[in-house]
Parts: sequence; structure tokens; C-alpha cells
Amino acid sequence: MIGLFDRLARPLLQALDPETAHRLAVRMLKLAPLRHAAPDDKRLATRVFGLNFPNPIGIAPGFDKNAEVPDALLHLGFGFVEVGTITPKPQAGNPRPRVFRLDADGAVINRLGFNSEGADAVLRRLAARAQSGGVVGINVGANKDAPDRIADYVQLIERFASVASYVTVNISSPNTPGLRLMQQAAVLDDLLARVIDARERVAPHAGPTPVLLKIAPDLSLPDLDDIVGIARSRRVDGMIVGNTTVSRPAGLRDVVKAKESGGLSGRPLLPLSNRMLAETYVRVEGVFPLIGAGGIDSGATALGKIRAGASLIQLYSGLIFGGLALAAEIKAALLAALDHDGKPDLSDYVGADAAAVTAEEWPR
Ligand SMILES: Cc1cc2nc3c(=O)[nH]c(=O)nc-3n(C[C@H](O)[C@H](O)[C@H](O)COP(=O)(O)O)c2cc1C
Repeated sequence: MIGLFDRLARPLLQALDPETAHRLAVRMLKLAPLRHAAPDDKRLATRVFGLNFPNPIGIAPGFDKNAEVPDALLHLGFGFVEVGTITPKPQAGNPRPRVFRLDADGAVINRLGFNSEGADAVLRRLAARAQSGGVVGINVGANKDAPDRIADYVQLIERFASVASYVTVNISSPNTPGLRLMQQAAVLDDLLARVIDARERVAPHAGPTPVLLKIAPDLSLPDLDDIVGIARSRRVDGMIVGNTTVSRPAGLRDVVKAKESGGLSGRPLLPLSNRMLAETYVRVEGVFPLIGAGGIDSGATALGKIRAGASLIQLYSGLIFGGLALAAEIKAALLAALDHDGKPDLSDYVGADAAAVTAEEWPR
């Protein structure tokens, strides 16, 4: 069924402007009667942040920004879906065109700028599916014109804690001016203190809601030292490494589109995102788990991400080029690795290569 969807839809989608193609893909997921994927092999199951995942492969935020199709994606066999980024008030984002496909590189550049239908619309959708099961996290951000950006995060935690499996504080989009400055130590400490406090305040009625922090892959190592230190002292439940990069890795073939401003994702992001993940892993010292995102496009790159330090992984750009069947391909590869190595589950792989990755030459 997924194969058929991919075969019919992908040639059409690839011929369209990327944002139009994405809109159409979401609409198809809404309407098409997709059969549910077979239950996952128990060896892929994992428990992270106190939540049970049938497999570690998730949909990264940006794909389903407004929570239109989380259940369709879970039914297709993804282990979890992170919807968002949502902002408190609806906002249009930057002018189009604002998403560019670098076909020769397996990469995407986007400068969407938090286009969001806003909290009310997304809250209604998540509330309507709250009893449906499955892990659906929500990624939250601040409105571009917010007078107090921290207050935006606080109100979103308060409003969404009861309908989301977890909440991700996103301070790493490159497309909202000044947002990444919230990664600076003093601001971040204040942000996390207020966010965790909000989570505790609503816990009596909302239940326990893990709070994760999503960072950029473009941080310096001294900045990463500070961020991990603050995340640990403020007791976040995990980190996501990471968002798109404002850098342009060496060797990009589509030199014209590479000049577009925005965040780059997909295959060329893999070395940098793996390096930052491994650097984060060694600093976190097992205190909380990590989600790895960036450049996963195959079973091998998925396993590499886990070995660099990820307990869970997320995909976006790889789906644009590889189709929705990528999830099944990754599951098969992970099970083949377990068979080959005689292991009962994926836990031994998590971070197995982290130290080695941090010793490599810095990715260019
Ligand atoms: C078109 C597009 C939109 C995105 N929107 C968001 C977003 O709203 N919030 C967010 O945290 N990350 C967003 N991302 C980043 C992804 O979640 C992910 O971190 C990044 O693309 C790296 O993974 P990938 O190489 O598998 O795409 C977006 C990525 C793309 C390509």
C-alpha cells in the first residue's frame, strides 16, 4: 500500500514546487484509505522519557505542522510523530518561494519562518485524538512579533501538556530572526526555568509531560557545554539534535539553490548533525536520552545515528527523496543488524560510536 502510494504520488510530487507538493502529500494522507502497517517486531520497541515507542523511527516536526495527519502517519508504521512547530497566534511565515529542493544533493533548504495555524486550531485537533493512543509530541515556538518570547513557550506548555505525549522547546529555527539567540546561557536558563515551572504547575491535571530541548547543529562546542549544563541543571527530559544548518557543507552540487538563505537539511547535513549528536551524548553522560535528526536516508544512516547517541531518530528530508517506504526499509535494516550481532534489542547500539565520532576530523 505504501509502495503504491509512493509509486503513484512521488513522480507527481517531485514535479511540483516543494511546498505545493508537501501540501498535496498531507492532503493525500488525510483522504487516502491507507491500510495499517503490520505490528512491529518487539525487538524494535523502546521506552524513552517514560513513554513506550513501538519502534524508534519518528516523523520530525515541519512535516505535520498543524497536526492534520498524526494518526495516518502512526498507522503507516512510524513509532511517533512530532507535530509543529506551532506558535500561539496564527502567522503566515515568510513570503513564498521559501522551500527549495536540491535534488542532486538529496537536500532541502527552507526559510518557512514558523508558518502556523496557531494554538487554538492545533489544540482542537489534538484534543479530538487525545484518546487514540500512540506517541504524538508537539514542537512549540514563539510568534515573530511576540513582546515576550519566553511567555509564548510558557503558555504553549500550559495549554498543550494534557494533549501531547511530550513537548519540544524549539529555539533552533534559523528562520525567525533572533530565535537562536535564546540558546545563549542566561536566556536559556531563564527559559527552561519558566518552562519547567509551567510543566510542574499543570502536572496535577495534565499528568507528567516530558519537556525536550531542540538545538541547532551550528553551535560552537563551548556553547554546547553551556547548553548541556543548563539542560541538566534545569532537569529537561531530553534533547533533540538537531535542527537545520545555516552552513553550506562543502561539495553541494546544486550551487545555485545552495545560495538561497534558510536552513539546510537532508543528506549533506548527516556528518555535522552526527558530530553534534555525539558531542552532546558525551556531555550528557546518560542523564537523559537524545533524539537524533539530520540526514537519515537509509537503514545504514539510521543505525549510524543511533550509534552516534540517539535513543530515537526522526526523519523529514529523507522522506521527500525516499518516500514513506523509508520507515519500513530502516526497520528491516535495524532487525538485520540485531540478527547479525545476536542482540535482543537496540539498546546496546545507543552511543556505541559517540566517542569515536567526536575524535574524527570536524566535518566540512
Ligand atoms: C520544510 C521543512 C520544515 C521544517 N520545519 C520545522 C519546524 O517547524 N520545527 C522544527 O523544529 N524543525 C523543522 N524542520 C527541521 C526538521 O524537523 C529536522 O530537524 C531537519 O530537517 C533535519 O532532519 P532531515 O535531514 O531528516 O530533514 C523543518 C525541516 C524542513 C525540511
